[in-house]
Amino acid sequence: MSQPTFSSVLDALRCVVDPVSGKDLVRLGWIRALQVAEGSVRFTLWLDDPTHVFAAEAPEACRQALADVFGTALSVEVSADSEMIGLGADLSIDGQDAGAAPGDGITNIIAVASGKGGVGKSTVASNLAVSLAQQGYDVGLVDVDIYGPSVPTMFGVEAAKPRVNEHRRILPVEKYGVKLLSMGFLVDQGKAVIWRGPMVTSAVRQFLGDTEWGKLDFLIMDLPPGTGDIQLTIVQTVPLNGAVIVSTPQRVALADARKGVAMFEQVNVPVLGIVENMAYFSPPELPEKKYYLFGEGGARALAQELDVPLLGELPLVQAIRENADDGTPIVTDTESETGKVFAQISEGLVRSVEERNAVRPATQKVDILRGN
Ligand SMILES: Nc1ncnc2c1ncn2[C@@H]1O[C@H](COP(=O)(O)OP(=O)(O)O)[C@@H](O)[C@H]1O
Ligand SMILES: [Mg+2]
Repeated sequence: MSQPTFSSVLDALRCVVDPVSGKDLVRLGWIRALQVAEGSVRFTLWLDDPTHVFAAEAPEACRQALADVFGTALSVEVSADSEMIGLGADLSIDGQDAGAAPGDGITNIIAVASGKGGVGKSTVASNLAVSLAQQGYDVGLVDVDIYGPSVPTMFGVEAAKPRVNEHRRILPVEKYGVKLLSMGFLVDQGKAVIWRGPMVTSAVRQFLGDTEWGKLDFLIMDLPPGTGDIQLTIVQTVPLNGAVIVSTPQRVALADARKGVAMFEQVNVPVLGIVENMAYFSPPELPEKKYYLFGEGGARALAQELDVPLLGELPLVQAIRENADDGTPIVTDTESETGKVFAQISEGLVRSVEERNAVRPATQKVDILRGN
């Protein structure tokens, strides 16, 4: 029998499936505070509902799954967390109860950020969302880029007006299996551009908290470009699981990406990975040629320096821009090479999220600092 490693333990626990949702416990984010040592495994089972029918049986099912892979000599210590604090519950602003929070029912909130505008942040956020939905996850995408919302165009839903249900909660618009919401649906663009920081933050908070997302595995957030006060405050408003940084290969862009990573570190949000966009150009008639127009290997070096995964390198291709303008994200073309790169990026992201979740403490309080 092999010795357990962090990822082989997670793989074994992926075989334990909650009969109610049909999803495995790693995917559900139930495995927390995982510690793996030679001959022993320890973790906390974290359930958002202690009366869940599988709650009583889950520890034994986990032990069994680990014994099947690593043998019965492995010492397994499972503790269930009785203080079931869900994502988004028990939020406080400056130590005072902040009431309902946007995270209820949402397993992972992931921000997509960039140091600069125009590097492909919305393109990555949109395609990532569709790609995760294609893999069977329940996905939402919220565009809080109040100054330049582009999700309505990229999904071809510019004319959509989200409805409100009988409880006065906003119902997202659905397209390609993704629940969408954009500031662009609700806010007059002419007015939004003169909003100041605190207005943006309170609008974002209300926007997320008043939306009927239902159960989501992932909520992807398209942030405004940059690393200023507005971005920092939004990031602190929402209980994020992690962030993806998009950069182009130029040195100036990488310098800004580095600032993005520093911003998330400052608020203790893990950076799950870097995506290099417009990494190279391949002419359609010479698809095997790669021209590194903006320099080669910059994002890879940055990822190594910062010790975060490089999730993928996306080529500069006309079809990405055309599909974005047509409202059909490129991943909807499952045959395209770029679609395949996106599939690889989203798989890497899922792995990175699950590994981060498994080391997180089961019970955590999310402290929100009041915006400026
Ligand atoms: N890899 C790419 N190849 C070709 N065009 C791209 C690529 N990535 C983004 N674009 C285009 O560049 C423009 C800016 O991208 P966008 O995602 O809106 O950037 P951001 O959200 O960072 O401002 C859009 O027109 C988009 O279609
Ligand atoms: Mg954008």
